Amino acid sequence: MEIFNRFFDPGGSWEMLSRTAHILSGITWIGLLYFFNYVQTPAFAVMSAEGRSEAMRKITLRALWWFRYAALLTFLFGLSIIAVQGDQTDAFFEGQHGTAILTGILFGTTMFANVWGVIWRAQKVIIGSAETVANGGEADPRAAELAKPAARASRANTLMSVTMLFFMVFAPHGAGWWQEPIGSTVVYWLFVLVIWAFIEASALGLIGGFDNRFNVEVFNDHKRTIIGAFVLWAVVYIIGWEIILKAMS
Ligand code: HEM
Repeated sequence: MEIFNRFFDPGGSWEMLSRTAHILSGITWIGLLYFFNYVQTPAFAVMSAEGRSEAMRKITLRALWWFRYAALLTFLFGLSIIAVQGDQTDAFFEGQHGTAILTGILFGTTMFANVWGVIWRAQKVIIGSAETVANGGEADPRAAELAKPAARASRANTLMSVTMLFFMVFAPHGAGWWQEPIGSTVVYWLFVLVIWAFIEASALGLIGGFDNRFNVEVFNDHKRTIIGAFVLWAVVYIIGWEIILKAMS
C-alpha cells in the first residue's frame, strides 16, 4: 500500500500524520486558550463565589486537562515534523522558510512553556483550594497569590497566538516569493527577540511587577489583548519581516 512506502521519509506518511495531529492538537489548545480568555474569565467576573467554585471544579478542571495535553501533543508533533526532515533539517531552517518557521516556533514554544510552567502550576493550587473549600476546609493562601501570574501568562499566550500561527502556517504555505533567498537575518532576529523578551518578561512580572503599565493596558481587558495580538503581528510582520528583513536582502 502506498501509505506504507517510505513511511518515515520527508514528505512520507509519518510526516503527513504528524502534521494532521499537530494541527488537530494545535486547534484544541488554542481554541481552549480563547475559551478561557474570551468566555470563562469575563463570565467568572460576574458569577457568584459558589457558582465560580463549582464551575472551576467541574468545567475548568476538565478544560485544563484537554488544554495542557493538547499543548504537549502540539509541541511533540511539531518536533516530530522536524525530526522527519532528517538530513534535510539544515535546509528546513534556512532562508525565508526557516526564518518563518523559527519565528513561529519561538512564540509557540514560549506559549507551551507558559502553559506547563506557569498556568498549570498555578491552576493546580487554585482548583485544589476550591475543592478543599467545597469540602468544608480552609482555602490555600497560595491560591490568591498565584491567580495573577496565571492570568498574565494566559493573556501573553493570547497576545502571541496570532503572530505564532501566521508564521507557522505561512512557512509551508507562502507563495513563490517566500522561497526567494534572503540576506542577513541578524537585525530581524534582534528586533524580534527584544519584543519577545519584553512580552514574556513583563508577563512573568520581571519588569516592574505584574501590574506594570504594559500588563494593565494590554492584559487586563481581553478585548485589548485581541487588538494587541494583531498589533504585535503587524509589528513583527510588516516592520520586522517586510521592512527590516527584506531591506537586508
Ligand atoms: C509548540 C511549539 C510548536 C512547534 C515546535 C511547532 C512546529 C511546527 C513545524 C516544524 C511545522 C512545519 C512547518 C513547515 O513544514 O514548514 C509546523 C507547522 C504548523 N503548525 Fe506548528 N508548532 C508549534 C505550535 C503550533 C501551534 C500552537 C499551532 C496552532 C494551531 C500550530 C499550527 C501549525 C500549522 C497549522 C502548521 C502548518 C502545517 C501544514 O500546513 O502542513 N503549531 N509547526
